[in-house]
Amino acid sequence: MSGWFETVTEAQRRARKRLPKSVYSALLAGSEKGVSYDDNTAAFAQLGFAPHVAGLSAKRELATTVLGQQIALPVLISPTGVQAVHPDGEVAVARAAAARGTAMGLSSFASKPLRDVVAANPQTFFQMYWMGTRDDMRRRMEQAREAGAKALIATLDWSFSHGRDWGSPKIPERLDLKAMVRFAPEALARPRWLADFVRSRSLPDLTTPNLAEPGHEAPTFFGAYGEWMQTPPPSWEDVRWLREQWDGPFLLKGVCRVDDARRAVDAGVTAISVTNHGGNNLDGTPAPIRVLPAVADAVGDDIEVLLDSGVRRGSDVVKALALGAKAVMIGRAYLWGLAANGQAGVENVLDILRGGIDSALLGLGRSSVHELTRDDVVVPPGFTRTLGAV
Ligand SMILES: Cc1cc2nc3c(=O)[nH]c(=O)nc-3n(C[C@H](O)[C@H](O)[C@H](O)COP(=O)(O)O)c2cc1C
Repeated sequence: MSGWFETVTEAQRRARKRLPKSVYSALLAGSEKGVSYDDNTAAFAQLGFAPHVAGLSAKRELATTVLGQQIALPVLISPTGVQAVHPDGEVAVARAAAARGTAMGLSSFASKPLRDVVAANPQTFFQMYWMGTRDDMRRRMEQAREAGAKALIATLDWSFSHGRDWGSPKIPERLDLKAMVRFAPEALARPRWLADFVRSRSLPDLTTPNLAEPGHEAPTFFGAYGEWMQTPPPSWEDVRWLREQWDGPFLLKGVCRVDDARRAVDAGVTAISVTNHGGNNLDGTPAPIRVLPAVADAVGDDIEVLLDSGVRRGSDVVKALALGAKAVMIGRAYLWGLAANGQAGVENVLDILRGGIDSALLGLGRSSVHELTRDDVVVPPGFTRTLGAV
């Protein structure tokens, strides 16, 4: 199969070769010193397995239900507000997720309209930040409902830290002539990426169509970001208000602490994602896999507990499930796949994860993802962190 890769690491290597430097580094992201970014993958590697050798199961069940949606494997597409990776962008990701039987989270900062993404994958969730006025947020939720979103994701973990020791990409406000001239050497150095856009007769889109007011042009990425920065952060009362406006499954993304998880339950959410935003937020926040057991113990019987950040292998998914997650969400893993080989690359990543989950289940003697328990993983002393427990 043309362009096939065997691991997510290989997809990332190809993405690096294929994408212009600024685009690659926008996906790599991270923040400050990259402590959280590094810990996200390092922590998974510190966990081991306790495999059996006989009495294994010939058939393994990977299907589950999350936010009211039946999915073929416990892996969902986490929303990422990225532009310019591939001309088909989020629509290609949505098609790949649909082809592999899973749900798609679409960022409000995405480059494609929600309606097109829902057409590609009816199992689409719309993600919002606490941004603008209550009327703006109500309107965006109404638009999401009309476009067919099956659930709402409210992402609350963002502290506007912009420095990175390895440098941040220079992304233009819009692709006008001046920006194109400046960007040209980078783009010309990546002819395959450029050819994809030339073939699609489009330019990388730096606008956010899902944040447009009816009858107005879509704001630019930075215009929308500015609005977000100026919005006072929400109280728990605001979270409850937001939840009440959405008549359907509601995921609160960005929980690391036990006390916050309990407050999320009180606010009436359907699910939380234990995450540190892929290490892009407050640097020094531990890897979510370390804080998951305490959070799952506290609220796992009340709501669905998901995890994201650092998932690169099927075995990572199995570790997260064994420590209390119902499913995981992936970010960079599918972005590397998209950059490496478009829709087929995202399908390739989902196949890699599916294969890895299946192989770990086989080794552990489990016939279903629902049978995984903490006994299946080897947790080294001092691994876990409990945040916010009295
Ligand atoms: C480039 C990039 C853009 C992101 N944009 C958003 C976003 O718009 N909304 C959101 O909720 N999360 C966003 N995230 C966070 C992801 O949804 C997810 O939490 C994170 O990527 C998980 O970590 P991983 O990349 O290690 O899988 C973004 C992440 C990356 C890498």
